[in-house]
Amino acid sequence: MQVKVFNSYESLVKKAFGIVKNIVKRNPYAVLGLATGNTMIGLYKLMIEDCKQNRTSYKHIRTINLDEYKGLSAGDEQSYAYYMRKNLFDKIDISSGNTHIPIGIAENEDAECKRYNKILDSLPRDLQILGIGSNGHIAFNEPNTKFGSETHVAKLTESTITANSRLFKDISEVPEKAFTMGIKNIMQAKQIIVLASGEDKAEAVYNFVKGKVTEKFPASVLQLHPNCIVFVDKTAGCLL
Ligand code: F6R
Repeated sequence: MQVKVFNSYESLVKKAFGIVKNIVKRNPYAVLGLATGNTMIGLYKLMIEDCKQNRTSYKHIRTINLDEYKGLSAGDEQSYAYYMRKNLFDKIDISSGNTHIPIGIAENEDAECKRYNKILDSLPRDLQILGIGSNGHIAFNEPNTKFGSETHVAKLTESTITANSRLFKDISEVPEKAFTMGIKNIMQAKQIIVLASGEDKAEAVYNFVKGKVTEKFPASVLQLHPNCIVFVDKTAGCLL
């Protein structure tokens, strides 16, 4: 696992964007695994700008998102489907049929998880982009999730609910469960880039980069991936 510490969030996302752009240019049919959350916003802004200014095309690119809150429809402003449309998909030339996100309001959980696993099997990801939770989660794989897990419904921990409540009117509105890719699914991507910014991620970054590989700290599994790069800004990397 390669770790690179940047002076600023801006330089970190610029470098990550360079990798995404190379992949998209090399293979206009590439498959990208995408994440939501604050950390991704700067990267998506650069992709949008580049698509507009340099006509980099995402027309045939396929995307698979990590997760979606259970119980939220794609039209709900708090859903990850909405986040993706607002922060990326509606502003680049990707075709919506090529974008995949779990269906938050799927009634049959098992069927939805199976459907998503099939998508993941049929579209091997060239690149998976990840953020990290301060408790070490990747996607919504919370501490003690099995490394062999595939798409499942996860119960969110109190710390994740509290962290994510900043985007809701009230903490009581944060869903307690989510559909999420499993750790095994994440590890199947050919390449992984983890992005982390800010002091509140410093301990998590230290633990997953330097700590023991353990299901207690899900991101630590990334030490076992053959092609994983970690980009952190100097505040997130201050304990390394
Ligand atoms: C998002 C996701 C989460 C976030 C993580 C960091 O789809 O799966 O694991 O990547 O919670 O979120 P931010 O970037 O908001 O700190």
